[in-house]
Amino acid sequence: MTTRPITDTQPTQPDRNFDDLAERFGRTIYATPRGQLRLLALAQDFHDCAVGAPQSLLDLGGGQGQFSLQLAQQGTQIDLLDVSSEMLALARDQFAAAHLPLTAQLGSLQQVNEFFPQQYALVLNHAVLEWLERPFDALPLLVSKVKPGGWLSLMFYNLHGHQWRQLMNGRTHAPAAATERLRQQGNAPQHPLDPDEIADVLQQLGMTIKRWRGIRCIHDHMHQKIRQRIGQDAVNQADLEFGLKEPYRRLGRYVHLLCKKADNHDE
Ligand SMILES: C[S@@+](CC[C@H](N)C(=O)[O-])C[C@H]1O[C@@H](n2cnc3c(N)ncnc32)[C@H](O)[C@@H]1O
Repeated sequence: MTTRPITDTQPTQPDRNFDDLAERFGRTIYATPRGQLRLLALAQDFHDCAVGAPQSLLDLGGGQGQFSLQLAQQGTQIDLLDVSSEMLALARDQFAAAHLPLTAQLGSLQQVNEFFPQQYALVLNHAVLEWLERPFDALPLLVSKVKPGGWLSLMFYNLHGHQWRQLMNGRTHAPAAATERLRQQGNAPQHPLDPDEIADVLQQLGMTIKRWRGIRCIHDHMHQKIRQRIGQDAVNQADLEFGLKEPYRRLGRYVHLLCKKADNHDE
């Protein structure tokens, strides 16, 4: 196990608020096969690990709440926090259209205890960590919001998948993180993350990793013409299958870690 410090030492800059991306985000992610594959992968992990539909869920950096909405349909109460009022407005619209309750607050996850002081049976943090200036600082906070015996579902942008795409696109001296230009445009996650470093810190914080999956480990590396020829269902099936296998899962664009906190009664 590596001994990465639990806190970051990077200079502080603001995290990435999605106000200007909100409308495009729904269109470019969830209305596409990439977003549908993400939802399928998460649903399969929840099913395989028998997470069920917990009573309470906190979605930190929840955006438009697409995955939370699926759990709300099974009766889970959703509390959602995000720094983007545009994303929150879209989340409220989606829940209202589905006639489902949602408690949505505008605020940063670093200040979560001001809005939602309690612990939850399930905490989601999906595709947020890589947009934070100090991603490792957030991990103890995320873990602290999980009840004993509860779950943390953490999905983040994978350093290895990012670098492999850069290489396959001919950028043989690709930087590990976003270039300054992409960073200024705000369209690329500023911190692709090494899954082993994240997993080590979670374990140091007392979490047990029940599922380690790569998402879009086949989809993103297959030529579009080949995807069209074999069809989206076949691509999805391969992605779901190889996303659980070494070494392919390490090339996923995202990694999903589904982790459990020890119950007070556990040894
Ligand atoms: C890529 S989106 C992901 C949204 C959602 N979790 C999902 O999986 O669809 C990242 C979200 O994180 C939010 N965000 C960024 N920094 C944040 C912070 N410090 N606290 C709370 N939300 C934050 C953004 O506004 C945006 O809605």
